[in-house]
Amino acid sequence: MIRSVVRGFGAALPKQVVTNRDLEARVDTTDEWIVQRTGIRQRYIAGEGETTASLGEAAARAALDRAGLTPADIDVIILATSTPDNTFPASAVNIQARLGMHHGAAFDMQAVCSGFVYAMATADAYIRGGLARRVLVIGAETFSRIIDWNDRTTCVLFGDGAGALVLEAGEGDGTTADRGILTAHLRSDGAHREKLYVDGGPSTTGTVGHLRMEGREVFKHAVGMITDVIEQAFDATGTTADDIDWLVPHQANRRIIDGSAKKLGIPPEKVVITVDLHGNTSAASIPLALNEAASDGRIKQGDLVLLEAMGGGFTWGSVLLRW
Ligand code: UT7
Repeated sequence: MIRSVVRGFGAALPKQVVTNRDLEARVDTTDEWIVQRTGIRQRYIAGEGETTASLGEAAARAALDRAGLTPADIDVIILATSTPDNTFPASAVNIQARLGMHHGAAFDMQAVCSGFVYAMATADAYIRGGLARRVLVIGAETFSRIIDWNDRTTCVLFGDGAGALVLEAGEGDGTTADRGILTAHLRSDGAHREKLYVDGGPSTTGTVGHLRMEGREVFKHAVGMITDVIEQAFDATGTTADDIDWLVPHQANRRIIDGSAKKLGIPPEKVVITVDLHGNTSAASIPLALNEAASDGRIKQGDLVLLEAMGGGFTWGSVLLRW
């Protein structure tokens, strides 16, 4: 059977690092509060000329280089983002143009912090359905541009960045020993849409708006939703927590990550953490974390890697893959 195999990975971060101490000068907060409640120590913030598309392009080029491929080899670009350069066209076509690609198709996918998991599941369906042989899956965000910098309950949490994978069709036996995506599970429940949202948009206010979040409410649902959708991945494949080499979670809050891993029985040494370095970069957080752990040699070919995310919508999902 056809499997969607990771062929390359890459990432890009803005130049400017903003520490918790830097934020102390801006809002009524402390480094201690931020570290204790979230695990975040710093984040990268986009400066002039740095946008979702420019960061996405840089991550895409890094992933293509690592794969030994060029844009000519790509059939489809899927960009997971909630912070596009423009309301339309999709920032994916901006990246397509920046890569000098005039063939294939490019589109954005909007599932907030679960965007990368949604994009991976969609790319997998395209590849297994024979619609594409190679898909560039990108998560890129500039949440700093939709943050209310006077709201201490949200502005300390988010950061900017981008990560990308090249997925390529490969042959598998249909067993969990295959390389590539083994299973993907997506969920959403719009009943929770007002717990984490942006208070503007083209069809309502005609403005971009700012991010608003009932943090405690999101927190309350997170661990249960994450562990549910991971149990689904285990059930679908007959795998267990013991089989997992690496859990690469969406990086929103260290306490949510630790709580989910503990509930599932995945030991801390198997969990990739980057929230301390990057903050919450929404759809970019999983590919940024994959890039860290694969670049430094932790994630190796053949490893069983579990991705999970939960965020605005609510949306949530998991992807189980063999690297
Ligand atoms: O990626 C998408 C999904 N998003 C998430 O997963 C975020 C989920 N939520 C969270 O991570 C946590 O709820 C937060 C980190 C946002 C907040 O942590 P918390 O432990 O739930 O704190 P809280 O909202 O209950 O606030 C506790 C106190 C409050 O003061 P009072 O009411 O107890 O006097 C806040 O006003 O902390 C105060 N506070 C702050 N203090 C210093 C809120 N923000 C800050 C701040 N600095 N930046």
